[in-house]
Amino acid sequence: MTILVTGAGGQLGQELVRRAGPRALLGLTRAQLDIGDMDAVRTALAGHRASLVINAAAWTAVDRAESEPEAAWQANREGPATLAAACAEAGIPLFHLSTDYVFDGRAPGAYAETAEVAPLGVYGLSKWAGEQAVREYLPNRHLILRVAWVFGAHGSNFVRTMLRIGGERDVVRVVADQYGGPTHAGAIAEALLSVAARYRAGEVLPWGTYHLCGTPVTTWHGFAETIFAAARHAGLLTRTPLVQPILTSAYPLPAPRPANSSLDCTRLRERLGIEAPSWMAGLSEVLDTWKRTS
Ligand SMILES: NC(=O)c1ccc[n+]([C@@H]2O[C@H](COP(=O)([O-])OP(=O)(O)OC[C@H]3O[C@@H](n4cnc5c(N)ncnc54)[C@H](OP(=O)(O)O)[C@@H]3O)[C@@H](O)[C@H]2O)c1
Repeated sequence: MTILVTGAGGQLGQELVRRAGPRALLGLTRAQLDIGDMDAVRTALAGHRASLVINAAAWTAVDRAESEPEAAWQANREGPATLAAACAEAGIPLFHLSTDYVFDGRAPGAYAETAEVAPLGVYGLSKWAGEQAVREYLPNRHLILRVAWVFGAHGSNFVRTMLRIGGERDVVRVVADQYGGPTHAGAIAEALLSVAARYRAGEVLPWGTYHLCGTPVTTWHGFAETIFAAARHAGLLTRTPLVQPILTSAYPLPAPRPANSSLDCTRLRERLGIEAPSWMAGLSEVLDTWKRTS
């Protein structure tokens, strides 16, 4: 029996496959399985004797979602709905990823799972609709993990972008009025794999919705400063640029961003024994990987 990972070519998908170790886990990229294709999903579940599916597939181009809403909706609502329906037919659970973008970011503190959602744009709305579909098809056999500000060694993300522009410019302007917990894709993968292992060992899991984000809360500006200092220390940059704090209003983008993306991870600790990961430890791991492979 196999753990099937969809969207295996993405940031998180690659981490899941790399960290699976001896676990029977198979990652399928978008080219190998389109999660919106019911026939293909049914065939994959049966053919690989899937005992559990982890859906790491998504449309994550937040700004492009505003101009291509149908494509975002297809990947983020219809895809998870199809997967969840197929998992329900097969009698197996689905682990699904969602996002801080389901919230509007106006709350003063960290968002708990019970907080009211209010997506600001197409991406957040489509992810919320995907969550709802998963709950509808698999009311007693789903794990929805909302994460935020994901970065990792594989794929494009803020850390990679900062390293690129930091090597080119003397001054980098970074938003300093959005708050959140950068989350290492490797830590998300480890959390999902540990819960999957418990399921496969026969443990009755407390199904439902959970939050996981890196600690401590920072701003994009604070994250950028740490990235540059750590990258210089690791020898990946020969000098560090000046990181100039700017307001969100000075950097307009098609999709509005939540000003507060901080997620309360208490439920994950209390019900599943998983602690919020340190993003600085995750950052060190990513930089070490790049140093080894550069
Ligand atoms: N990245 C973040 O900062 C962030 C923040 C909060 C939450 N999340 C959530 O975390 C999860 C993982 O994100 P990530 O950063 O790993 O995303 P990612 O790097 O963009 O990877 C997503 C993968 O899904 C694939 N995909 C898209 N549509 C598909 C379909 N219909 N069928 C199969 N595969 C499909 C993509 O393939 P193509 O590249 O070929 O399109 C890509 O390989 C997602 O649910 C995302 O919404 C991410």
